[in-house]
Amino acid sequence: MAQVVLENIYKSFSPRKGESVAATSNSDTKENRADKITVLRRINLTVADGEFMVLVGPSGCGKSTLLRLIAGLESMTGGNIWVGDRLVNRLPPKERDIAMVFQNYALYPHMSVYDNIAFGLRRRSSGDMQSEGFSHIAADLLVGATKKLPKGLRYLSDKERSVDERVNSVAQLLQIDRLLNRLPKQLSGGQRQRVALGRAIARNPQVFLMDEPLSNLDAKLRTETRAQIVKLQRQLGTTTIYVTHDQTEAMTMGDRIAILDGGQLQQVAPPLELYNRPANRFVAEFIGSPPMNFIPVEFHAPLLITNDDFRLTLPEYWGSALQKYDGRTIILGIRPEHLILSVPANKNLPLKVELVENLGNDTYLAAKLTDVNFQNTALNQTLQVRIPPDKLVRLGEQLWFSLIPEKIHFFDPETELAIFPKNSPSLPFEK
Ligand SMILES: Nc1ncnc2c1ncn2[C@@H]1O[C@H](COP(=O)(O)OP(=O)(O)O)[C@@H](O)[C@H]1O
Ligand SMILES: [Mg+2]
Repeated sequence: MAQVVLENIYKSFSPRKGESVAATSNSDTKENRADKITVLRRINLTVADGEFMVLVGPSGCGKSTLLRLIAGLESMTGGNIWVGDRLVNRLPPKERDIAMVFQNYALYPHMSVYDNIAFGLRRRSSGDMQSEGFSHIAADLLVGATKKLPKGLRYLSDKERSVDERVNSVAQLLQIDRLLNRLPKQLSGGQRQRVALGRAIARNPQVFLMDEPLSNLDAKLRTETRAQIVKLQRQLGTTTIYVTHDQTEAMTMGDRIAILDGGQLQQVAPPLELYNRPANRFVAEFIGSPPMNFIPVEFHAPLLITNDDFRLTLPEYWGSALQKYDGRTIILGIRPEHLILSVPANKNLPLKVELVENLGNDTYLAAKLTDVNFQNTALNQTLQVRIPPDKLVRLGEQLWFSLIPEKIHFFDPETELAIFPKNSPSLPFEK
């Protein structure tokens, strides 16, 4: 087991055919041809020994590229990668002691489940063999010649015997021991993915890298396999970096989550901390489903916020952090679950129901802010709110919602960074 340290990692690619470097239209000049597209910048991340780190972000943000750099399948433009106390920058993939699981399983189609799982084990020990002399070559020939025979008649060298033990114990762990003789095409998607996991686990590497391993599974199987992977990782205690674009996977699986956008880390924190204290608007919107609502409001010191639809006095702890925004617009953030069905009042939001989504356990509304005072409003904004499932609402109905004051977030309108109050009441994740 080992910690993984990523130090100031950069990666750029030459543009692919037909792809132009952003903001340059004249792509025929020599300078432009030499231009690179930078897909990862200044990545600094320490994954602790045994930690389950989820790397999450929208499609194209650089997740797979980062994983491939760690695995050694791609070369870095700059930076250092440490696995344990080894600097692995220049090591080829097979010397890094890392196993990777891909979205598309990447199993060998002509090999049985058994051989797929055994493959890495056999390959790894074949290097040692040459130095150990002729008897191993003979043993290997015997293994090959008797491979097709029923199990009891097969010749097993010492090496094969240890491979056999390992394959069987991993197969039992993953509950695929009854599938060992099948070919990948004779398996369901979920079974294939377990074989791919098995192949990674069998090698007992220092680090697992998983790139969207559940994306090809249907929703139910995805939820089940998600839980299995987490349990397995706990059992094995192997340092894991798990890539996904799915915030639910990130929230439910990770000890910590690293959020990537545009090739840069946005925040690294435990799931609830990301939910409770997002560092910027991107994180606030990405984590949580449905996403946080954003409403531009004007701030008036000491504690008043207003817009055409409502005016609200904030809890006192906001005073000093917001002072410098006096008279300016700031972005208020509020999650759908932190708007509470209420009564008409100045401090409440008037919303007109546009869409009702009844999920059984919860009901979500898409609703528009209505300018009840017929003032001039630039706000024509749809918000998402959660209401109790037993509350029946009609389309077009107008409802009033109060904001839970302690659950309000603010963001700087220019930098989009979160504004944190100086002395807010302690949040659940704070020990
Ligand atoms: N071999 C490559 N050559 C050029 N550009 C690439 C290459 N691989 C990935 N990219 C670009 O790098 C960016 C990040 O890709 P990727 O790491 O696959 O994103 P993600 O896995 O987050 O969806 C994308 O814009 C992609 O087009
Ligand atoms: Mg990817």
